[in-house]
Amino acid sequence: RAARRRPPGHRGAGGEGAPIRTVESDPMLKSNETCWCGSGKKYKRCHRADAALVKPGRLSPTRPVPPSIERPDYAETGEPAEWSEPAVKSPEVIERMRRTGQAAAEILRLAGEAVGPGVTTDALDALVHDATIERDAYPSPLNYRGFPKSVCTSVNEVICHGIPDDRALRDGDIVNIDVTIFREGVHGDTNATFEVGEVDATSRRLVRVTRECLDAGIAAVAPGRPVNAIGRAIQAHAEAEGFEVTRAFIGHGIGERFHGSLQIPHYYEPSATLTLEPGMTFTIEPMIAMGTPHHVVWPDGWTAVTPDGSRVAQFEHTLVVTEDGVEVLTLPG
Ligand code: MF3
Ligand code: CO
Ligand code: CO
Repeated sequence: RAARRRPPGHRGAGGEGAPIRTVESDPMLKSNETCWCGSGKKYKRCHRADAALVKPGRLSPTRPVPPSIERPDYAETGEPAEWSEPAVKSPEVIERMRRTGQAAAEILRLAGEAVGPGVTTDALDALVHDATIERDAYPSPLNYRGFPKSVCTSVNEVICHGIPDDRALRDGDIVNIDVTIFREGVHGDTNATFEVGEVDATSRRLVRVTRECLDAGIAAVAPGRPVNAIGRAIQAHAEAEGFEVTRAFIGHGIGERFHGSLQIPHYYEPSATLTLEPGMTFTIEPMIAMGTPHHVVWPDGWTAVTPDGSRVAQFEHTLVVTEDGVEVLTLPG
């Protein structure tokens, strides 16, 4: 077998002391080249840049919510009540969703302004938690099906549902912050991906294209159109740019329930023929992948990552179908 290039700092089994599993990346090897270690696998499926991958960190103690704040039904038990909320909301519910959505958008903006190298995702959780309570709202993720924190923070190859911990953001990272709040009996759900310091050109393009994919999905919404028009528009844009749409996580109905029964795929799903009607409320939240669109979930039961460590970006809004198009409910005031 031909000698393989080894990453800097690698010590083979013949070196002093116990053989170590290197965590250095080899800047000489491309992802698709055969790994230096002799496994015969592609470098990206073997020893690639392990040190750069996101790993589980430590969680801070649970943040309390003052008893004066109105809680969603799952706040104590972790299990949302199962009932089928109508997909079409009354004008009165939509009015409440508009106010809650605006507050969620303002909190997302504040969190984004706090992003920078050295800031931990737990610090972002603290900021979102406090800003939510300040606005007399409950942070919807907290204890939703047992989720331990008040916001989802998804870094680099984390697709979604990342749990804030003591990992400090690094120059060159991308981080999605997914804010959902509950106020006046309804949820508002919105997220965005932010760049940390100086980010490589491909990641910047991924972030831009993902924002454009959300915009394309929103532009496809109008009464009388089928739900699958949304995913068709998103998929077309992502694939034209050489990216892929993550299939496993989709947009959802929203209102008094965090996740209602409407399903909004971000790819063209021929069977999603339901007709959009005025008053329907749902999210569009495409996750666009640089590499594989597949995912694995960490043992924490939440953190969804790409199996090959390639990056993913996401943007999300909560929307209502109007008489002549669509209104975004999660815009800052
Ligand atoms: N906000 C996410 C969404 O867009 C859901 C997060 S569920 C949580 O649907 F439990 F992780 F918070
Ligand atoms: Co959502
Ligand atoms: Co969300």
